[in-house]
Amino acid sequence: MEIPGEGQLQGEAGSIWLASAPQTGYPALDTDIEADVAVIGAGVAGLTAALALKRAGHTVAVIEAARVGTGVTGHTTGKVTSLHRLAYTDLVRRHGTDTARIYGQANQAAIGHLQRVVAAEDIDCDFRVVANYTYAETDEALERVRAEAGLAARLGLPSSFTTDVPLPFPVMGAVRFDGQAQIHAVKYLQGLARAVQGDGSRVFEQTRALAVRDGIPGVVDTEGGTVRARDVIVATNVPFGDQGLFESRCQPHRSYIIAGPMDGPPLDATFISVDEPMRSILTASVNGENYVLVGGEGHRVSGAGDTVGRYGRLAAFARDRLGVREVGYRWSTQDNMPVDGLPYAGLLSPDAAHVYVITGLRKWGLTNGTAAALILTDAISGRGNPWATVFDSNRITPAASADGVADEETTPSDATGEASPQRGKVTLAPGQGTVIEVDGESTAVYKDTDGQVHSLSAICTHLGCTVEFNPADTTWDCPCHGSRFAADGTVIHGPANANLPPGPEHLPEGIN
Ligand SMILES: Cc1cc2nc3c(=O)[nH]c(=O)nc-3n(C[C@H](O)[C@H](O)[C@H](O)COP(=O)(O)OP(=O)(O)OC[C@H]3O[C@@H](n4cnc5c(N)ncnc54)[C@H](O)[C@@H]3O)c2cc1C
Ligand code: FES
Repeated sequence: MEIPGEGQLQGEAGSIWLASAPQTGYPALDTDIEADVAVIGAGVAGLTAALALKRAGHTVAVIEAARVGTGVTGHTTGKVTSLHRLAYTDLVRRHGTDTARIYGQANQAAIGHLQRVVAAEDIDCDFRVVANYTYAETDEALERVRAEAGLAARLGLPSSFTTDVPLPFPVMGAVRFDGQAQIHAVKYLQGLARAVQGDGSRVFEQTRALAVRDGIPGVVDTEGGTVRARDVIVATNVPFGDQGLFESRCQPHRSYIIAGPMDGPPLDATFISVDEPMRSILTASVNGENYVLVGGEGHRVSGAGDTVGRYGRLAAFARDRLGVREVGYRWSTQDNMPVDGLPYAGLLSPDAAHVYVITGLRKWGLTNGTAAALILTDAISGRGNPWATVFDSNRITPAASADGVADEETTPSDATGEASPQRGKVTLAPGQGTVIEVDGESTAVYKDTDGQVHSLSAICTHLGCTVEFNPADTTWDCPCHGSRFAADGTVIHGPANANLPPGPEHLPEGIN
């Protein structure tokens, strides 16, 4: 198969990690239960916390709305690293040397924690130690990587500047961090869940938490029963409800990844570019076949624009620079970018006593989420933690603004905010959707691949913005705060916590 240029989709929709792992089958909660700690969300943050708490002697109940690892973590690139592009230059500028040092220490410690858990629990997740590079292709970027390399080394990180970068295309130089890693994130989370289950701790899937009430005990209301627990951790990537006001302290950011088969063995290194458009590169052996993953095209959720073209540009890069002849998989996912560059781990709000949160993992959650989980494990176990102040969820942060995440990639957008619903006749191709007005109501209509037209309310169940159809991922995306819904209206990404309700039973003539 040949890779076409921009504008044409190819490859299977969905993450290579989810496609290459078995599906878990933990039961849904169907009764009221008690545990020492309730953890909502079975991503890297929630499951790392759950296992660490269990090891510290607590019983844990993990409540997952979908299946283990099917959230952002199942759609990650898979780098386990403390080199976050040029994070240290940015953190020193914004917060000073001590904060940057602690951020680095927390992320380095997270790599070690993850490696020890993989070994101790015998988790088969393709964990590999690799070097990680941030590379430069222009004079200006070269100066920046040189500065980052020196700064990170002074902060005690395993950093050096090099012009010897093992990429198959020429670059000018890079920051290199040694002793970093990569993993099959879904298999890792499935291993964590296996280790959590048992001895009084339990994992529940297909159980959506509907509300959390602080108190003694804390109560988590779910679709199938309540969980009473001394402490509760909300690890849903984006907290649901409006407690903590994280919408004003984070910006949801989306990125895209394609994966295609490669010739030769995987490289012992992972890469990210400084120059824009940012490209992230990882190679991996997945179920016996070698793949290159290329990520990028990141943008604030309100600026999706031509999502089909975004995949096309990644495919063109993979072909031209890395010799990838075909795209096997393509997917996109989102993460919460904290406006001051530091993740959040701590009590959900200044008034909270027993409800904790993890969010704002800034697209580096395999390590930031692991570190955050260890901070909360210490807090709940009554132990101090040296990183807690830097990750403090109740610190004063500036409100989200257009340049709040300026150190991160943001590719241009041609989106202009909420689109107006269409009126009059609409003809949809199979697999396509749009928003129309029916009796004054914004209605999301989608034609499935069998030609059947389905309708949903187009009003986002978070705060009422109008969703938009994303043709590349076949999802309904909300431009306001980043909620996403499957074609059938099922919520797949918060802050919304309820599905899109059904639309009118009868659509007007001319909608087909
Ligand atoms: C494209 C992309 C590539 C990335 N690559 C990397 C990388 O290489 N390395 C890295 O370190 N980081 C990377 N990241 C970031 C990293 O993947 C995330 O920070 C991390 O996976 C987030 O983990 P989480 O536990 O917060 O969220 P999730 O993995 O989303 O887990 C949250 C879980 O909560 C569940 N949930 C939500 N609401 C409810 C509810 N009401 N009740 C019950 N359950 C609920 C969800 O179903 C989900 O399973 C990347 C991010 C993006 C966008
Ligand atoms: S995500 Fe907030 S209104 Fe849709």
